[in-house]
Amino acid sequence: MKQYHIHTIGCQMNVADSIRIGSALEQTGYTFTDELGEADVVVVNTCSVRQRAEDSAAGKLGQLVSFKRQNRNLLIAMTGCMVPREEAGKAALYKRFPVIDLLFDTLDPQRLVELLPDRIEQPQAGASIKNKIGVTAFVSVIYGCNYTCSYCIVPLRRGQEQSRPVEEIVEEIKGYVRRGVREVTLLGQTVDAYGHDLPTRPDLADLLQAVNEIEGLWRIRFLTSHPKMMSYKMIKAVADLPKVCEYFSLPIQHGDDQILKAMKRPYTVAFYEKLADTIRKTVPNLSISTDIIVGFPGETEQQFLDTYQLLERMKFNEVHVAAYSPRPGTVSAEQMEDNVPIEVKRERLQAVEQIQEKIALEYSRALVGTTQEILVERMEKGRWHGRTRNNKPVFFDNPSLPEYEGFDWHGKLVDVVIEKAGAWSLVGHVAGTPTIIEQTQVETEVCEVEPVAGKRLIPLTMARN
Ligand code: SAH
Ligand code: SF4
Ligand code: F3S
Repeated sequence: MKQYHIHTIGCQMNVADSIRIGSALEQTGYTFTDELGEADVVVVNTCSVRQRAEDSAAGKLGQLVSFKRQNRNLLIAMTGCMVPREEAGKAALYKRFPVIDLLFDTLDPQRLVELLPDRIEQPQAGASIKNKIGVTAFVSVIYGCNYTCSYCIVPLRRGQEQSRPVEEIVEEIKGYVRRGVREVTLLGQTVDAYGHDLPTRPDLADLLQAVNEIEGLWRIRFLTSHPKMMSYKMIKAVADLPKVCEYFSLPIQHGDDQILKAMKRPYTVAFYEKLADTIRKTVPNLSISTDIIVGFPGETEQQFLDTYQLLERMKFNEVHVAAYSPRPGTVSAEQMEDNVPIEVKRERLQAVEQIQEKIALEYSRALVGTTQEILVERMEKGRWHGRTRNNKPVFFDNPSLPEYEGFDWHGKLVDVVIEKAGAWSLVGHVAGTPTIIEQTQVETEVCEVEPVAGKRLIPLTMARN
């Protein structure tokens, strides 16, 4: 039996792409292995967003050199954002990493499939992404990016925006739901630009509406929204559609208008704040996550303070902060001097992390004593783990009742009373006496992964006096 391994670096889009690539390989009779030493083909799915991500891929390829020495037939392929679109760039990459047998475009795994020895042309019934699927799944709905932020390599590597038709997305998600998935995250670099390139011009709100109707699916998330593309119709859809979680990933990148301009982000801080305010007023119990870059070329102490004060003022629920890393071929790398010293970048990064930890802890503490709906994803260090609708991780123990001995909580929605708060996660216990009640009946067609029974586990919260 031939085996494959995929090593994934980068964002959720790459995670989604790796699953699709794995699925294409499984159609030819290959099966997934976690052990590099057992693999006949290894795919490294790469990211270019910062130098560190590229270094990580180089490290993996270095490790693969010795595996290739032991097994000369080992096929090594690279895909993802490190693979340039032009042939000259590809040739340079082959030269830099002679261990690579094939560079291929993420959307074209067929190139790899054709090279596989001993592939079975007839797909085996039911063989599909058996090793990867859990309770949550990522689904790319729009590829590429039409913006040209001066620091960003993504458009150079992923090309122009290209939306997938609504029906195709809905069918893919229905397939996941049949295999036990209960939450999907719709992905795009600018997910709120979804649909403008399709003949009937649906928008993200229309897509959310269509996905919301899928039976057996309980939660819908979407990433990443561009402040300039967000519309009131989309915000209202999040507020009104019951399955869509109250969570926006809305990167601002910086708190100073001049830097935003140099970044070619087409909005001002005031525009962003007004938008965030509208979203907060329209969607109750909302969480907003943002991205920040510190140490952009020319960033002064005062400009950094503008970002810092923005964070104090806006109190985001999550902040993803990165130190500026010049990417070859981007406008900022070619035309601006990377002149903020590394120690200063590090200090600013830490300052952002510290203030955000304080804010996150305040949010967590406010949840102590409340009951939160958790979708259980997995067992972690002996405790069940899931997230609130707002994306806060929660841990809880199996109730010590005889009927819950060895109970499998995967994919169940459960109400949890929050007891303890940390900045990044919460601990609680199952509310009241859990009782299984019927909810949706999930189709049980033959598939490799046991479908979760069509039941929702809802604790009847008991009167406590
Ligand atoms: N499309 C999304 C995310 C793009 S990449 C958006 O528009 O926000 C994810 C994050 O990586 C970005 O939000 C940005 O904060 C960060 N990033 C991108 N390029 C970077 C660079 N050259 N150096 C440091 N951080 C970068
Ligand atoms: Fe990069 Fe800007 Fe596009 Fe986001 S919107 S992927 S930061 S170019
Ligand atoms: Fe990295 Fe490409 Fe995602 S550069 S962040 S893997 S879109």
